Amino acid sequence: MIAIGCDHAGVEMKKAVIEALSGKGFNFKDMGTDGQPCDYPVVAKAVCDEVTSGNCEKGILICGTGIGMSMAANKVRGIRAALCSDSFSAKFTRLHNDANVMCMGARVLGNGLAAELAEIFLTTGFEGGRHQRRIDLITDIENNNL
Ligand code: RB5
Repeated sequence: MIAIGCDHAGVEMKKAVIEALSGKGFNFKDMGTDGQPCDYPVVAKAVCDEVTSGNCEKGILICGTGIGMSMAANKVRGIRAALCSDSFSAKFTRLHNDANVMCMGARVLGNGLAAELAEIFLTTGFEGGRHQRRIDLITDIENNNL
């Protein structure tokens, strides 16, 4: 299950991502918004809680730029959120950063590219090895331990 959420700027892109990837076997838990103006940090927290609780394996967040969502998501303990606008970043943030949330900007990208980036993000595994040590260091920062 993939948690997905957006603010009012991202509603159409969220629908496009869900539609494109549902046909490829992905299941989504939609954490809002359905279109009402809302504050992106609230949605970011709801999606991230689904991921950190283990209810959902990954999360996707969409706002106008993707920036606000990524800032909010990265405040949640255990979340490694990546703002992506290109396929290289979507792939390597999984391979090297083991990102568990991807953020996109609905005023930055087209819906087709967003669906493609989401698919890359959701189908690419973590490489582990030396990258795990670096992720552990991120966790150390989170724990005020570095
Ligand atoms: C909403 O107008 C906009 O500020 C929001 O979607 C997002 O881009 C913030 O980072």
